[in-house]
Amino acid sequence: MTERLAAVAAVLDEPGQANPYLLGVYAPVHEETTAENLKVIGEIPRDLNGVHLRNGPNPRHPVHGRYHWFDGDGMVHAVHFENGRARYRNRYVRTAAFAAESAAGRALWSGVMEDPSGNPPGNTHGIALKDSANTDVIFHRGRVLATWYLCGTPYSLDPLSLETLGAETFLDTLAGDMMAHPKVDERTGELFWFDYGPRPPFLRYGVVGPAGRVEHCVELDLPGARLPHDMAITERYAILMDLPLFQDQAAARQGRYKLTFDRALPARFGVIPRRGSAAEIRWFEANPCYIYHVVNAWEEGEEIILDVCRVSRPAPRGSGGPLARMLSYLKLDARMYRYRFDLRTGRTTEGHTDPERNTEFPSIDARRTGAPTRYAYNVSVKDAETNLFDGLVRYDNVTGERQEHRFGPHRYGSEASFAPRDGGTGEDDGYLVTFVTDEREGASEVQVLDAADLAAGPVARVLLPTRVPLGFHATWVRADQLRTAGERG
Ligand SMILES: [Fe+2]
Repeated sequence: MTERLAAVAAVLDEPGQANPYLLGVYAPVHEETTAENLKVIGEIPRDLNGVHLRNGPNPRHPVHGRYHWFDGDGMVHAVHFENGRARYRNRYVRTAAFAAESAAGRALWSGVMEDPSGNPPGNTHGIALKDSANTDVIFHRGRVLATWYLCGTPYSLDPLSLETLGAETFLDTLAGDMMAHPKVDERTGELFWFDYGPRPPFLRYGVVGPAGRVEHCVELDLPGARLPHDMAITERYAILMDLPLFQDQAAARQGRYKLTFDRALPARFGVIPRRGSAAEIRWFEANPCYIYHVVNAWEEGEEIILDVCRVSRPAPRGSGGPLARMLSYLKLDARMYRYRFDLRTGRTTEGHTDPERNTEFPSIDARRTGAPTRYAYNVSVKDAETNLFDGLVRYDNVTGERQEHRFGPHRYGSEASFAPRDGGTGEDDGYLVTFVTDEREGASEVQVLDAADLAAGPVARVLLPTRVPLGFHATWVRADQLRTAGERG
């Protein structure tokens, strides 16, 4: 541990004291800003039209107990490109918990590193942590859904004003919660999701139809409570995961949050027809691991390809003080990995596609979700105590080629979204868009790169009037999708 972090660790026993995830590039911003006529270095391409949105944690009140990066209130930062100009705005997601804490004038929930037993209720599974909607943003049926990693209420936002339109109930058809990373099939208009919790049913899988109603929902049998984070779809199937990383139940009874990784158990992947019954799921076994994020999946004949960022040693390695434990909890250390599930034989084939680089937060051309993709756009994870993304990596599945863009010393980015060029159909015929923050200057910008040539560096850097703290997931909404959103009102 470095000297600086040892010093931080010394004060972490005092709840709410210095914590690296509340400082520097992670420090919350307190203003909600709207800014136009932004200064640009380079030139914003005229055929880049749409909005890049990114969610992330931004604690609004002084922290109640020890803070973990995942605890902060959801805040969405967005940059809207139109005819060579850019506008920026950031807004909190107005969740029920946000309203309750606003009324109280203080934090009411402690975070994941504290005993939650004194907290107000959280999600429908009885997890007494704040449902902050801070994790992902998904565009579906003209609205942006802000979601939460432990399963919560999805909140609808207007994609341009970022106004919170309310809890998304899918016309009163959603029972229970939704996980952070539902998948949208643009061709059918469907949204695929799951919900998990500490008590049976441990996993539910569902489909929202193109008319915005939950049309399918099944309970799936798991050997016990799991912590799935993501899922995949193909043309005919959905893929769910049973991975051997659990919350330690003995620790939970003592009010402690501890994760256990059981190497004796396989990783299991459940392949279920998109509208299939629980009895139709087929489980494929693989070597034990944990997976936060899926790149994409698709079918090749009677074989399913699943590309992921795979974590081989997911259990927290920190021993000793609270800082070490906090920093090691869900620290990203993943490699690009491919599974093949043979529907004829039930056999799994698996292996690294990039065993070297720690890359995560993958993006693809969202129009191809569930269909074959050649390119993946990931962030590279710096070897540091906290989660820092120091560049972008483009993977080419066909040639194995890797392109890279580094943000430069002391500059860190967030998940990049792929923005198709107006009228472009190719999966690298467009741009990558990401927020980048300079640790020394405390300043942020939006970088726009040619998705076919990352090494050339940004074609445009849009300078922002306010810092954008590092955060979680992003999405791109095209101008044609924004028009549809406007027509829906
Ligand atoms: Fe995630």
